[in-house]
Amino acid sequence: MEKPIEKILAQKEFSKADLITLLNANEQERQLIFAKAEQVKKEYVGNKVYYRGLIEFSNLCGKNCFYCGIRAGNKNAHRYEVDEEEILQAAKYAYDNNFGSLVIQAGERSDKSFVRRISEIVRKIKKMSNGELGITLSLGEQSEDTFRQWFNDGAHRYLLRIEVSNPELYPTYHPADDRHDYFKRIESLHLLRKVGYQVGSGVMVGLPFQTTSDLADDLIFLRDFDIDMVGMGPYLEHEDTPMYKYKDQLLPRMERFYLSLKMVAVLRIMMKDINIAATTAMQAIDPMGREKALKVGANIIMPNLTPTKYREDYLLYEDKPCTDEDAEECKRCLEARIYMAGDKIGYGEWGDSKHFKRRKEQNKEKQ
Ligand code: 5AD
Ligand code: SF4
Ligand code: FES
Repeated sequence: MEKPIEKILAQKEFSKADLITLLNANEQERQLIFAKAEQVKKEYVGNKVYYRGLIEFSNLCGKNCFYCGIRAGNKNAHRYEVDEEEILQAAKYAYDNNFGSLVIQAGERSDKSFVRRISEIVRKIKKMSNGELGITLSLGEQSEDTFRQWFNDGAHRYLLRIEVSNPELYPTYHPADDRHDYFKRIESLHLLRKVGYQVGSGVMVGLPFQTTSDLADDLIFLRDFDIDMVGMGPYLEHEDTPMYKYKDQLLPRMERFYLSLKMVAVLRIMMKDINIAATTAMQAIDPMGREKALKVGANIIMPNLTPTKYREDYLLYEDKPCTDEDAEECKRCLEARIYMAGDKIGYGEWGDSKHFKRRKEQNKEKQ
């Protein structure tokens, strides 16, 4: 017989079988998981939510992930790159409004001129804000030199989702070529840590052919890598992608949503002091998706700062929220939502991962 949820939640460590039981929890049982996650969040990271103003710098991408709306092969995508002046304006907005940090995200490219432009932008943002704005990058796999260059320019956190942690499943969602190599992605995560970044990763939930056993492995992967930050959310269809053909084999959207919510809650219980984002994809399904994620353990929100005219083009999936709004609207909207969820905003703070700091201190003690 399966162990009762209460018993599992009272444990300090969880086996894979325990995690599967938690992820399979029904409507009633999941309330127990959510309550425990809420309590852990309160105790270990508190009720402050930190902002990462999101600038979707460009939707140009050299890769062809089967699920993604801005993949290189999608000829219907209208490509853009935000110009430097506009980025600096968005960064200034974040600074003036005490956002604390920014995320610069784009499709994956590694040509020299791209690498140089990012360097310049990072340096200019640091200078404009007297070093006060924290910068997270989310720009895909790069060489160690590039990671190091951007780190030296002033970026200090990096997001690189593993997407699916099972090497055998990875090729189901990515072309089988050099550019989409699971082991290179893992290597990139190691390089990021070596260079000194706070490292974020994450997965998509509810992909076709993915099972709760795979998701339990994803949680174990994040734990064993000792990740500092996590962003994960439901997989959402996009008509102009190869994976769209499996749209009839997916879990219903609400089930994908609740499964994502359980992933967030269980991860909070497992990794008590990491940063977890309430992702935009959560809100693509449920209008209160991000608040619900905050309630069950998330503590990071990424208000969109991308100039409105570009937003419609950074469409990784359908029904992405906030594509018609501007920075001011998203700021006001999120403020209300966060207070409704019973949290406070950590204005003007970096809100770095406590987990990262703890590891750094432990390493120092060892030396
Ligand atoms: N549905 C949900 N998330 C997606 N991403 C890309 N395409 C989709 C999709 N169709 C996520 C990936 C990527 C992040 C930037 O967006 O996890 O790492
Ligand atoms: Fe490019 Fe990222 Fe989309 Fe893959 S998920 S196609 S790397 S933007
Ligand atoms: Fe953008 Fe609500 S956060 S409109």
